[in-house]
Parts: sequence; structure tokens; C-alpha cells
Amino acid sequence: MTFEPRIVGFLCNWCSYAGADLAGVSRIQYPTNIRIIRLMCSGRVDPVIVLDTLINGADGVLVMGCHFGDCHYTVGNFYAERKFRMLKKLIALTGLEDGRLRLEWVSASEGARFADIVREFTNQIKALGPSPLAGENPKPDLLQNMQAAQMAAASFRLRVLVGREKGLVDEGNVYGEKLPQEEFDRVMDDAVTAEYLRNKIYLMVKKEPLSVKELSKRLGLDSQKALRHIVAMKRHGMVAVGQVEGATPLYVALEMGR
Ligand code: FES
Repeated sequence: MTFEPRIVGFLCNWCSYAGADLAGVSRIQYPTNIRIIRLMCSGRVDPVIVLDTLINGADGVLVMGCHFGDCHYTVGNFYAERKFRMLKKLIALTGLEDGRLRLEWVSASEGARFADIVREFTNQIKALGPSPLAGENPKPDLLQNMQAAQMAAASFRLRVLVGREKGLVDEGNVYGEKLPQEEFDRVMDDAVTAEYLRNKIYLMVKKEPLSVKELSKRLGLDSQKALRHIVAMKRHGMVAVGQVEGATPLYVALEMGR
């Protein structure tokens, strides 16, 4: 049986959805693999929802918005682009192929471009094959990684960073001082990695009590770094010592400790 990917498209109402509509009324053929969800603006596409879509077995996710300068809410697509970049960094940590995710700009007059992108993306997903998260038995490790990524995307720290990037890098503070993009990217990379690892540790110790040594072994992480994450997680009420084996503390997840 040939593989027919299930692709979810998040399209902004004013440009991309109108572009899809134009493709339809112009009778331009494109694959029927895409299921379209219309939003008012690409800036409304929450990374948590995109991750949820992939966790629930979508083979690919296509986000589309207006070209820069055309967003009906002026800067919505700038925010979409920044959220997408953060999302890509998180996906790279999980091990899921990042080709399953794509962001494109399509205007209301670009029906043919919309059809081309859908065709090209469908072929790309066909080449990748079915999502390892689809079906009855998704890969357990990957599923846990994706859940950790989703929790990280929902964290206050990453939401604030994504929301502040444009202001800090493009506009600057009240004195007009701007943060260099490389500097911001470094801060963002560190925050994405830390949030991802902490949520991964949280899910691991939720399943069974684990020592810092065991965590660092399973994560392939330096034990000092693993310990630093545990200390931060204890401070935030995410984990606590559940039991002591010999002289080694084993950590457990706290249910309401977020
Ligand atoms: Fe289309 Fe904002 S309205 S991206």
C-alpha cells in the first residue's frame, strides 16, 4: 500500500488561506494530504500545538503566513518566524526529523505557489516515510522526548524569550541599545537546551526514582551538569529526594511542582 502522509497546515486567514482558496477556485491541482486549520494570523501558531500535532501522529506540519510587510497585524509573522526557530531547535533535540516541519509565506494572489509548496512538502514527507510517532506503537523514547519538548515550549522562560526577541534585537531598550542577534541566539540556545533537559529529567524521574549518576548516564550528560539541572529543578519544586540508596539520593517528580 502506498504511503499517503497526513499533513496538518496552519494557515493565516488573510493571505495563505486566501491563497489556498485561490488555488481551489483556479482549479490548480495539489495533493489532498493536507488538512487545513485557519487562524487569523501565523503569529497565533503556538509551538505547543504544533508539537501536540506531531505527538498525535501527523506526518508533517506546514505553517503558512503573509509575506513580511503584509501581515494584517503588522508583526504577527515576525513572531511566527521566531517561534518557529525556537521550535526547530527543540525538535532537533528530540531526534525527530526536522524536515517534518516547514514555515512558508504565501500571499492571497499566490494560488500556484501554495499548490507548489504543498506538492513539494508532500513529496518530502513521502520520502521521509510515516512518522515514528504515528500508529498504535509510537517509539517510546521519541515520544518522551517530544513530550519534554512540548513542556519546554510551554515554559514561562521560553515564552518570554520568544516574545522579547524582536524588542531586544530590532528595537532595543529605552536608550536605543540593541542586543546583537548572536548574543540573543546564544541565550536562546542555552535556555532551549536547559528547559528541554529539565523536562526530560522530570519525565524520567516521574517513571522511576533515579540518581544524578544514572540520569547523567542515560542522558549522556556530564554529571556536574546533570546535578546543576537537578538543583535548579529542586528550587522550582519539580523534583525532590524520594529515597536514599546507600548514600545516594534518588530523585522523584513532584506532581504539582511546576
Ligand atoms: Fe497573515 Fe499575520 S495576518 S501572517
